[in-house]
Amino acid sequence: MNEKLINKEKLPEHIAIIMDGNGRWAKQQGKLRVFGHENGAKAVKRVVEGCAELGIKNLTLYAFSTENWKRPKMEVETLMKLLVSSLKKELKTLLQNNIKLNAIGNIETLPKKVQSELLEVMEKTKDNNRMTLTMALSYGGREEIKNAVVELCTKVKNNIISPDIIDESIINNHLYTQNLPDVDLLIRTSGEYRVSNFLLWQIAYAELYFTKTLWPDFTKEHLWEAIINYQNRERRFGKTSEQLN
Ligand code: FPP
Repeated sequence: MNEKLINKEKLPEHIAIIMDGNGRWAKQQGKLRVFGHENGAKAVKRVVEGCAELGIKNLTLYAFSTENWKRPKMEVETLMKLLVSSLKKELKTLLQNNIKLNAIGNIETLPKKVQSELLEVMEKTKDNNRMTLTMALSYGGREEIKNAVVELCTKVKNNIISPDIIDESIINNHLYTQNLPDVDLLIRTSGEYRVSNFLLWQIAYAELYFTKTLWPDFTKEHLWEAIINYQNRERRFGKTSEQLN
């Protein structure tokens, strides 16, 4: 796959990725799941660099779902440790590449160490503007929408807003992703064809791209392939082809 085939004028503004298949990748090699996650972290680095180099403005990664808390304690602990060590290690790369770190999800439920590391990296990168890298952590799409509903209802109850003014943009502004544009391209690895409670509101018009590649095997070339595939699709947003032309 050749990077030159990518049309720089038609880049997706926001790419979101469900990074799946770490466990199966490790199993295939007779290793523990943790080994898969460690190599998954290397794929994260490759893809973040790949997106920044191309000029993608927003990349959102599903790193830990609300459901992932149900995994064996040791695996959860390893993922949390990996997160802290990756944040420590990659702060320099984020600064050098002018990338801003953002986090979405139920962040308060993360271990204190993860929260403090996240906050520190977010604070240090807050003025960067080449790309926003959002990590979805303890994230659930339905919970996000539920929280927005509760917040809006509370505002209505306290006469802060009238229900008549609630429109899509106001709902948008009450989601974790309030400062991000809609997702243009959603990628899921490992041959699973589901969205698994990820960015349910924000993917309304996203192009979906599924690949059998397991996440630790995902390279910049795989990213380019997904973007080229996206660029060859016709996004009609409900209109006809003729109207678009
Ligand atoms: C899915 O593979 C992956 C996760 C649940 C977590 C994602 C974590 C990483 C990519 C590594 C660490 C990330 C950072 C940001 C440091 P799976 O375990 O569900 O794989 P399986 O479906 O084959 O079991």
